[in-house]
Amino acid sequence: MRGSNSLIGIANFITFLLSIPLLGGGIWLSSRANSTECLRFLQWPVIILGISVMVISLMGFAGSCYRLTWLLRLYLFAMFFVIAALLFFVVFAFAVTDRGHGEVVMNRSFLEYQLSDYSGWLKRKVSDPGYWDKISACLRDAHACGGMGRYVRDPTNGVLVPESADLFYQRNLSPIESGCCKPPASCGFTYMNETLWNAVPGMIVNDLDCTRWSNDQQALCYQCDSCKAGVLASIKHSWRKVSVINIVVLILLVIVYATGFSAYRNAKRIENDEPFGVNRMTKARPSRFHF
Ligand SMILES: *[C@@H]1O[C@H](CO)[C@@H](O)[C@H](O)[C@H]1NC(C)=O
Repeated sequence: MRGSNSLIGIANFITFLLSIPLLGGGIWLSSRANSTECLRFLQWPVIILGISVMVISLMGFAGSCYRLTWLLRLYLFAMFFVIAALLFFVVFAFAVTDRGHGEVVMNRSFLEYQLSDYSGWLKRKVSDPGYWDKISACLRDAHACGGMGRYVRDPTNGVLVPESADLFYQRNLSPIESGCCKPPASCGFTYMNETLWNAVPGMIVNDLDCTRWSNDQQALCYQCDSCKAGVLASIKHSWRKVSVINIVVLILLVIVYATGFSAYRNAKRIENDEPFGVNRMTKARPSRFHF
């Protein structure tokens, strides 16, 4: 029992270390201001998973240090569910974010986002009117467009003025900034500053987002479909990043689980081969439990 116990002990110390990047990934997701801050429900699975891996690996560590067979059994059982949950989350994250991408626009460095490029569960969830009210209010309150303004010094009098349209068109914008903080390029509006655009009278456009745009700095394009698409693109970026961490953790957990499981089975076999037992615990509580 001793050899396999220390194997489980070491394996669990490794899993404990592993749970740190997992938890870090979740906290990173929740700390990203302006984008996923407004979608808190999305990062909870990762944080919960990180905490469970941490608790379970401590359980395995304690179980092997103090030779508590019941704790090891509980550990193997719980670990199985965590692996299943992690696998589910990775598959789910890829499945709900498989469609959709930014669109290249003529004479613009940034991409634009269209809701029609997206589909599936996450799109329905995000564009559900009741839910979108919450997300857009949150984006507004979190000053999602607060980083839009850039100023240059006017060479004639040294006064700070908004950057020119040409400079603005060469910028890189996040999906949220591109979708929510400015009207789509197809509206053909005249640039005044990053969040102030004037419609050209008489110009006919059939994009509803052009009528949803407002120069009210509290409204902007928060009700636009492009904003919903920007939010979806932003979720996709962060979920893909977190999924990479999850896949690495998943592979290592499976290895640790296989090690722990075979160590446990060996220990049980040795126990059963020694009817009088060398182990205090085996005498006290003969176990009939088999996996
Ligand atoms: C653009 O101009 C409006 C009106 O002067 C102002 O309220 C807004 O803050 C400006 N936007 C940026 C990004 O500076």
